[in-house]
Amino acid sequence: MKNFSFYNPTKILFGEGTIKDIAGEIPKELKILVTYGGGSVKRNGVFDEVKEALQGYEMLEFGGIEPNPTYETLMQCVEVVRKNKIDFLLAVGGGSVIDGTKFIVAAVPYEGEPWDIVKTYGKVIKRALPFGTVLTLPATGSEMNNGAVITHKASRTKLPFVHPLLYPRFSILDPTKTYTLPPGQIGNGVVDTFVHVTEQYLTYPANGKVQDRFAEGLLLTLIEEGPKALAEPKNYNVRANLMWCATLGLNGLISVGVPQDWATHMVGHELTALKGLDHAKTLAVVLPVMLDIRRKEKKEKLLQYAQRVWGINTGDDDERIDAAIRKTREFFESMQVPTRLCDYNITADIIPDVIEQLKAHKMILLGEKKDVTPDLIESILKKCL
Ligand code: NZQ
Ligand code: ZN
Repeated sequence: MKNFSFYNPTKILFGEGTIKDIAGEIPKELKILVTYGGGSVKRNGVFDEVKEALQGYEMLEFGGIEPNPTYETLMQCVEVVRKNKIDFLLAVGGGSVIDGTKFIVAAVPYEGEPWDIVKTYGKVIKRALPFGTVLTLPATGSEMNNGAVITHKASRTKLPFVHPLLYPRFSILDPTKTYTLPPGQIGNGVVDTFVHVTEQYLTYPANGKVQDRFAEGLLLTLIEEGPKALAEPKNYNVRANLMWCATLGLNGLISVGVPQDWATHMVGHELTALKGLDHAKTLAVVLPVMLDIRRKEKKEKLLQYAQRVWGINTGDDDERIDAAIRKTREFFESMQVPTRLCDYNITADIIPDVIEQLKAHKMILLGEKKDVTPDLIESILKKCL
């Protein structure tokens, strides 16, 4: 196991009815801006509950943060925050609203051109306003991590950035607030979480036994509970388990001391930026082929995955790996997330654009061994069609 430091300051308030506890987490004298997306929180009553919990505070709102939040929209909010001298932001929504809010809190005190924050992967951040979240879509883990992914619409660029100041002060995780998710978003959330775990687990052995078994526990839980969330949309325990899985899948716990991949995510971000495909759908397309093509480099962990997650105990090594990849693809499909580019009407002419964008973003040596080159990605994408 490699050396590591682990620090995660986000306080989690988990369970039905926890929105009312927000007030205890924000000092009364602070002026709050509530951020949200396209309106789902207004339609399903979550916004009203938040408003009720914030009675007695001075509170403004900013809506319209879109899925795959854009710099262009977020800069409008930066102006609102500056003009109204907001002290604290509360993001109410899914990963896009939370990520967008992370950009806003860093951009407000930044004196240069705020796109620098994204361009430098967060390196120029010196200060950020405090913020909390009310999560309505379990998927990204953004509610308990210090990363965000923002799109520059004009240049079709979607890039991640991180900074220690970008951990939420607190996050409210009420599983009942996920009941109104459409099936497509339930599937997306399960697939995104699944791939977060594989990015940190399906690499090469590092003797991180606890990390491995945590990762396998999360994958097994997703496989067990994911389909139930589609079949029984109001099953509280199913939603609770999925919500906690998504948070633990990307809060730093399973990545400490072990190698990490993230090549599938970086290719996926380019597909979203170019074609608008949902984040999780890009992952469902790319991951099975990525594992197939990189089976030599990932052999030991793929065999462990085959055995411990899918119970595959027969066949030679290649047959076991084939079976594990097949099961992975079938699982994504069972979550109603198709796994081929053609399922989304995307054809081979996108491939040169993806490669060009990856190069432009300096994503030329990806993966846990920094050996995933643009040429390799080109051959991977050809097999995703
Ligand atoms: O915008 P509204 O009207 O709220 O509707 C949203 C949106 O249309 C809807 N929704 C959310 N909660 C709902 C609901 N509809 C009904 N009931 C509810 N309870 O769902 C749609 C998708 O929301 P979005 O926030 O875009 O989805 P998700 O949480 O999957 O976030 C995706 C974004 O997160 C980034 C992705 O790249 C993408 O931009 N990621 C962030 C990461 C991080 N910060 O660590 C890591 C991830 O790998 C990922 O890259
Ligand atoms: Zn993801």
